[in-house]
Amino acid sequence: MRSEIAEQPAALRATLDALLPQVEEVRRLGARTRQLLFIARGTSDNAAVYGRYLIEAHAGRLCALAAPSIATTYRRRLDLDGVLAVAVSQSGRTEEIVETLDWAKECGARTVAITNGGPESPLALSADLALCTVAGEEKAVPATKTYTTQLAAMAVLALGLDADVNAADLDRVPDAVEKLIENPGDLDALVDGLADKPGVVVSGRGLAFSTALELALKLKEACYLHAMGLSYADLLHGPIAVVDEDTPAILVAAQDGPTLPGTIALAERVTGAGAASFGVGGGSRLAAASTASLHGPDLPEWVAPLGLIVPGQLLTEALARRLGIDPDAPRGLNKVTQTD
Ligand code: M6R
Repeated sequence: MRSEIAEQPAALRATLDALLPQVEEVRRLGARTRQLLFIARGTSDNAAVYGRYLIEAHAGRLCALAAPSIATTYRRRLDLDGVLAVAVSQSGRTEEIVETLDWAKECGARTVAITNGGPESPLALSADLALCTVAGEEKAVPATKTYTTQLAAMAVLALGLDADVNAADLDRVPDAVEKLIENPGDLDALVDGLADKPGVVVSGRGLAFSTALELALKLKEACYLHAMGLSYADLLHGPIAVVDEDTPAILVAAQDGPTLPGTIALAERVTGAGAASFGVGGGSRLAAASTASLHGPDLPEWVAPLGLIVPGQLLTEALARRLGIDPDAPRGLNKVTQTD
């Protein structure tokens, strides 16, 4: 996991080089799109959450996350005319995802695959257009480099749907990620602050919500920590009651986005109640309101999630080792690989 985290700058560079020339193909396929439907599980589903917020906020198209059981269990046909179905899978071989993409096609959707499984993977072969990430083989069970390269593919998808963002911002991503790997912030303080805790709340809003979900998943699968990932809007509607001296909060935000003031206010509320609040990103203002913090990338909000997860991946790996867990092979989990 540690070496795959370190490979991310190169993986992101290679993926952007491969996929940016495909923006025009996305534009042609997506021309009549009125809605997007993302199909994914696990980490790939968290990449889809980023895609949803990015495309709704910056390309003005309604997005939904598919419930694969409608296709595979209830076997119900829906009218998907005008829908662009986007299946996301590291392996490109998760059967439920391939089956649901095929269902979407039969229901009238145009289809895109985002996968690290290569152009010959079942998912890529099923789709009208394949955006193949170039992360290299990922061996550790917890996805890292395949996740951030999926986010890069989402950015390319958004550009093809005429998102009102500056494509040149993507050039800055690999270097920003490199800097975070070299200096993620106060990892030791967060490891110390979480090592004896039964649970943690991980929260972010808007584009950073995807990062909160993905960090919570990493902490669950690799550290066996009861980590609850949710938007801070939802946190305030009840779940904040679980935050106390035994249950800290990790709050994630881009350094300059519209969700930063609310994240800072929440950090102040958490620490004011006597619990620890750990910041991820959010610049110096979130750091000042937090018990301890990890750095975020020096990137605009729309593309910040490509770097925001990186210190969280490092935290997961370090905490797993502190807890005596091998993060590469957590208990009870198998990975569908690109060659299965
Ligand atoms: O190969 P896929 O992306 O389709 O796999 C889906 C999930 O099983 C996978 O993302 C899983 O959640 C990750 N290994 C978690 O790190």
